[in-house]
Amino acid sequence: MTTHSKGTALVFGGSRGIGAAIARRLAREGYDVALTYVSRPDDAATVAAAIEAAGRRALAVRADSADAAALQDAVAQVVGQFGQLDLAVINAGVLRLGPLDTFSLADLDQTLAVNVRGVFVALQAAAARMKDGGRLVTIGSNTAIRTGSPGSSAYAMSKAAVAALVKGTALDLAPRRITVNNVQPGPTETDMTSALREHVVPRVPLGRLAEPEEIAGLVAYLASAEAGFVTGASLTIDGGFVL
Ligand SMILES: NC(=O)c1ccc[n+]([C@@H]2O[C@H](COP(=O)([O-])OP(=O)(O)OC[C@H]3O[C@@H](n4cnc5c(N)ncnc54)[C@H](OP(=O)(O)O)[C@@H]3O)[C@@H](O)[C@H]2O)c1
Repeated sequence: MTTHSKGTALVFGGSRGIGAAIARRLAREGYDVALTYVSRPDDAATVAAAIEAAGRRALAVRADSADAAALQDAVAQVVGQFGQLDLAVINAGVLRLGPLDTFSLADLDQTLAVNVRGVFVALQAAAARMKDGGRLVTIGSNTAIRTGSPGSSAYAMSKAAVAALVKGTALDLAPRRITVNNVQPGPTETDMTSALREHVVPRVPLGRLAEPEEIAGLVAYLASAEAGFVTGASLTIDGGFVL
């Protein structure tokens, strides 16, 4: 049975991994959920079907986070179809690894385009169309504070930028009662970490990677009414990760 919608959420990068878990969780919480993807329309359609199976409206939009116009258009489409925007989760991100001396500028540009510029534009576009009192959540990384291993400098830099961006944005949007927070996962079971598993598990005191659903749970908290006084925060969820 379909109940009254809790509101409308947009998950940037919602087709796989952590973003897909967030989209599914928000649907179970009662949100109508839109998601963006860039390369996996079939995965996006699977997540959209799960949202509808939970009794909510779904919308999957192809929007490369490196393309500002595509992000702005995605937000416009969501507001056009759902009528409002209450929550945006900026999850899309890329992981390019390599030591400083050989790291290519193409990889640097892609890292910054998606993980930093894309986050800035998504925050800007979502805030512009969001109702007052809405919620913005970014997905950073614990590498912003605990850069785990050589070869992760550009990625860590990009995620540290997100943490700083969220602090500033929270101040900008406080007059509109929009909260802005950053979730910093540690190693999580997704496609992004499949090749790194053996390397990172020994560094996690809890002895395992996070499940994407555990990251989604923290996002659901930040979206909830009881998190109304949390803003500008970067919340790390990494099993006690050590260097
Ligand atoms: N997994 C971890 O251990 C971990 C730890 C800390 C932080 N994070 C962060 O958590 C977020 C999600 O990571 P994940 O592990 O779930 O990654 P993932 O399994 O590789 O999935 C990435 C998601 O982002 C989307 N995406 C990637 N580039 C995009 C672009 N240019 N435009 C639009 N969408 C794009 C993908 O869409 P397609 O399916 O269409 O390609 C997919 O939905 C990232 O920001 C990542 O940095 C992950």
